[in-house]
Amino acid sequence: MNPSLSTPAAPPDVMSSTPLLVAAARRQACKRAPVWIMRQAGRYLPEYRAVRETVSFMGLCKTPELAAEVTIQPVDRLGVDAAILFSDILIPLEAMGLEVEFTERGPRLPAPVRDRAAIDRLVVPDPAEKMPFVAAAIRIIVERLAGRVPVIGFAGAPFTLACYAVDGGGSKDFARTRAMMHSAPADFAALLDRLADTVAASLEAQVDAGVGLVQIFDSWGGNLSEGQWRTFALPATAKIVSRLQARGVPVTLYLGGGPHLIDAMADTGADVLGLDWRVDLETVLDRLGDRVTVQGNLDPTLLYAPPARIREEVARIARGVAQRPHIWNLGHGILPDVPVEHAQAFVRACQEIQA
Ligand code: CP3
Repeated sequence: MNPSLSTPAAPPDVMSSTPLLVAAARRQACKRAPVWIMRQAGRYLPEYRAVRETVSFMGLCKTPELAAEVTIQPVDRLGVDAAILFSDILIPLEAMGLEVEFTERGPRLPAPVRDRAAIDRLVVPDPAEKMPFVAAAIRIIVERLAGRVPVIGFAGAPFTLACYAVDGGGSKDFARTRAMMHSAPADFAALLDRLADTVAASLEAQVDAGVGLVQIFDSWGGNLSEGQWRTFALPATAKIVSRLQARGVPVTLYLGGGPHLIDAMADTGADVLGLDWRVDLETVLDRLGDRVTVQGNLDPTLLYAPPARIREEVARIARGVAQRPHIWNLGHGILPDVPVEHAQAFVRACQEIQA
């Protein structure tokens, strides 16, 4: 039992019907911390690669039956405590009117957003009209899982989406995006606000289709200083958080490379902070007290190490967290050539080890 969480926050009947993930996100009593893995549906799974041989990545995202199948694969294979919708953060950019390609070397936008006219051409799409395959996939997943585990919905954070929209693909430091922030701050703020409206509407549609929690990915937010993140990213991100909380679901904000942004992340009002391996979870819990649940944060490359090492690292993190509100995960997505048995060993260790 979990001493710090053992105060009966909810009557037993409510506790037993609330999924572990949602209870942990709400800082309610939990028998153990739940576990899932970012990018858990992906190339390290042979059954995912088998499906991908028959269909392109975009084709997979847009075929609800197949998206549902690969969403459920890691639930069956790893026994994780949540499913995450199979889709991509760049799907809403396409729905806004941008061309998006997935190449061998990652995503590419051949006509990036570089000026005010391009920002003004971006539409805030109606998800039911422009991304109907997302809700359709969620409905199949929810029906097929029949309450076994909850489904996580997700979207990119406004700043991270702006990085792809403006730079036109992956980058070391997203210099063009940051240059727009400095040279045309009002335009950049308008871009982030439009992205926030798109993301909020997309996540609301995912909630209506049945997801139990949503996660916002600010994978590249750590490229900003705290002042920059507070000025530009915070207002747009906080707007999404409050719209989704009004729909009754907890919200997780994941931020990559941002130990310096933790207070700013908490100021969005997010229920859960998703953290990478550069920060100690106990430091965050000590500082933010009862405000948040923390999620993470093993270094993804640790999954190349033997299972005994993985277990030691899980035990080390468990001691630091000391049974305070926590959701197990990696600090970033699982890498495509990790052995499946190592991912299984990670999940098993998280479910067995209690500090
Ligand atoms: O977590 C899950 O299992 C759900 C599916 C999911 C994908 N992308 C599938 C995917 C999620 C949650 C994402 C989010 C995403 N997409 C992020 C934020 C998380 C992060 O990793 O920081 C970002 C930045 C993207 C953009 C993106 N999509 C990149 C940079 C790439 C190429 C890199 C890569 O891993 O190949 C993608 C493609 C992508 N998205 C794949 C998958 C499974 C690989 C495509 C394939 O099957 O060939």
